[in-house]
Formats: sequence, structure tokens, C-alpha cells
Amino acid sequence: MFERQMERVDRPVTELGAVVRHLQRTANDGRLRKVILTAVFAFVVGLLLEAQRRSDANDTNRANDANDAKTTGEGDARVGTANQSEPASTESVVGDSDDAVAALSPPTANEMPMLGVGTPQDTEYDECLDGVREAFEIGYRHVDATERRESYYNEKAVGDAIDLADLPREDLFVTTKVDSEDLASDHVRRSAEESLDHLDLDYVDLLYVHWPTDEYEPEGTLEAFAELREEGLVREIGVSNFTADLLEEAVEASPAPVFANLVEMHPLLPQTELREFCARDDVDVELVAYLPTAQGRVEEVDEIRDVADKHDATPEQVSLAWLREKGVTALPEATDSDHLRENWLSLGIDLDPEDVEKIDGIDRRERFVDLDEAPWNRNRNLDRS
Ligand SMILES: NC(=O)c1ccc[n+]([C@@H]2O[C@H](COP(=O)([O-])OP(=O)(O)OC[C@H]3O[C@@H](n4cnc5c(N)ncnc54)[C@H](OP(=O)(O)O)[C@@H]3O)[C@@H](O)[C@H]2O)c1
Repeated sequence: MFERQMERVDRPVTELGAVVRHLQRTANDGRLRKVILTAVFAFVVGLLLEAQRRSDANDTNRANDANDAKTTGEGDARVGTANQSEPASTESVVGDSDDAVAALSPPTANEMPMLGVGTPQDTEYDECLDGVREAFEIGYRHVDATERRESYYNEKAVGDAIDLADLPREDLFVTTKVDSEDLASDHVRRSAEESLDHLDLDYVDLLYVHWPTDEYEPEGTLEAFAELREEGLVREIGVSNFTADLLEEAVEASPAPVFANLVEMHPLLPQTELREFCARDDVDVELVAYLPTAQGRVEEVDEIRDVADKHDATPEQVSLAWLREKGVTALPEATDSDHLRENWLSLGIDLDPEDVEKIDGIDRRERFVDLDEAPWNRNRNLDRS
């Protein structure tokens, strides 16, 4: 009888009162009553302990979610130069789940997302289109196109990817360039209008002087750029491959502010002097890096591999995180979805000061995009550019 009564005590708690009343009615024996009451008491205590355990587990999950959000870039801390907003981060490594990818967003420099995607110039239309479409799906909003006289595949593919993505235009930051052979003042407009036609856009956010060579002439070229800006065909004007000397000349010659200078920059070419020059109050030009992973050569460098191991990251991710620490916008070119995703996840890596110091101390210096007519070859000094 006792066992049968105990089985009934195991029923759901809503029946507990009925069970107790029944037991009280049936148990005349005082000892049995005491045993039953003890069992009921133990059962109730057990229920209370289980409820507490579940509540603690929920709290822990909520705390973990909040930490994940912080390490993946939600929030708004600042570590860069004055005009940049930075993601808050207390840890360096983020997961690579879709949630982790979606939670990230790059800081901005004067509204320019500090991580964008570079686009291939010499590949087929489809590869470029698919790469940019994939980039938009991951979360990239800054895309760098390139005008090519001999082929409009790049701008056409970027434009079609923008069209297919169907994102609000104001959420995008689209850039392109005027080729050095089109930089005479009366050619700039035609080149820019063709770019807009290929991109199928009313304006680009930033139009660069591609190289300060051939038809480039500071006053004439930059006045033509400033006119396009005045008319709203371009939001900002920029230059590319400018040394500090040439940038100084351009800033003085340009009727409109020079917004950015796009140059090769990575841990093997740290552009120290140029970076300091751009950050001066009277210059105030954003630095944007092409080849931000030195075309993958960062993998060859012990110091970068050490930092990558420490953060459970790849050398490419460390290179991108290092650029962000320097206040520089990075344009890694990628078409492969794993590469695009990996580069995006660099936003969750927060380098420690000793990591940055270690990378700054790398001896190897190398430039990968070099032309005989490039301005730095006029005085053959790597650190001047
Ligand atoms: N203004 C200028 O004068 C100038 C000069 C040169 C370049 N640029 C621009 O700068 C951008 C970058 O140029 P870039 O292609 O020479 O250099 P890059 O970004 O250093 O390298 C791109 C190559 O690296 C691969 N890659 C990307 N992410 C990777 C990762 N996480 N791990 C391993 N491999 C990865 C890409 O492969 P997949 O394609 O297979 O993903 C691609 O083959 C381009 O948009 C280009 O237009 C501008």
C-alpha cells in the first residue's frame, strides 16, 4: 500500500493536494503519515531546486548572447582616428556561424564603411557579378569598381549585382575610378558619365583619380572632379597612388575637399609617413588600402602567424584587423565565398597593443603593385609613399 501511495505522489504537482488529502484519509498509522509527509516535502523541495537550476541556465545563456553581440561588433566604441566609429569588442575571436556574420558591421570613416570589397579587373563578368552578390549577402556595403577603357565588364558586373541585390541606394558606398588616360579636364566628365552608365547609377559615392600619371594635371583634373561633385554625380572625390607630396599638391589645388587616397597598404608596406600626413588636421584625408593582405603574402610572416594563432584567426584576418587599428579602410578583393566570409569575420578580431607593436616591428618591406611611371619611383623611396 505504501508503494502504491508513493507512486501517486509522483504525479504532477497539480494533483499534489488531492494526493495528500487522499493519503491523509487512508493513513491512520502515525508513522506512515510522517513518512508520507517527509516524502512530499522532499518532492516539493526537488521541484523548487529544478526551477532555480533552469532559471540560472537561462541567465547564463542571456549573458553569453550579450557577450557574443559585443565581440561581433554591436555597440559603438572608438579606437581609431577622430572621424571613425568603432565596434565595441572585449574578445578577439568570433564564431563563424551565420549569426556571427550577421551581427558584424564595419566601423565607418565619414560614413564610408571601413571594410569594403575589391572587385577583379581581369576576370569574366560572371565571376565579378557573383562575388559582389555574395558580398552583399554577407553584409558588405562598400564596393570598389574600376573603370577600364578596354573593357567595361567590371563596372557592368558591379552595377548588375547592385541591381539584383535591391538594397536601398543610400545604404551602399560605391566607388570607381577615372583611368589616367582620361584625366584631362575635358575627358573626365565623359569617363565619369560612362561609368555611371555601366553601373546604372545616378551617382557614385567616391570617384578616384586612378594614377597621378599620363593626363593628370592637378588644377585641371581636380576642378573637373569638383564640378561633378557640385552637380551631384559624385558625392566625394578621391585620389589613388598619391605620395604625401602629390597629395599635398592635390589638396591645395582641389576646389573640393579630397576625401580619400587609395594606396597599396599592408603590414609589409605600412605607409607610416603617408598615414601621418593624411591624419593631419589641415589635410584630413581618409586612407584606403588596396592589397590589404599583400595578396596573401602575410601568411609568410612569422610575426603575423603568431598573432593569428593567438587569436585563433588567419593571417589575412590579422592583416585586416591591423589596418582597422591604424584607422585605414581595407578593400580586400575576393570572389570566393569562403574568402569573403573570412575577411568579413576579421571585424570581430580585436588586436591587443602588443600584437600591433609586433606587426609594426616586422622588418620585411615589400611593394607588389609597381609601375615604372609610379610617383614613388620618381625618388625611389618606399617610405615616402
Ligand atoms: N588603385 C589601384 O591602383 C589599384 C591597384 C591594384 C589593386 N587595386 C584594387 O585593390 C583591390 C585588391 O587587389 P588585389 O586583388 O591585387 O589584392 P588582394 O586583395 O591582396 O588579393 C586578392 C586575391 O586574394 C584572394 N583572397 C581574398 N581573400 C582571401 C583570404 N581571406 N584568404 C586567401 N585568399 C584570399 C582572392 O581570391 P578569390 O578571388 O578567389 O576570393 C584574390 O585572388 C582590387 O579591388 C583592385 O581593383 C587598386
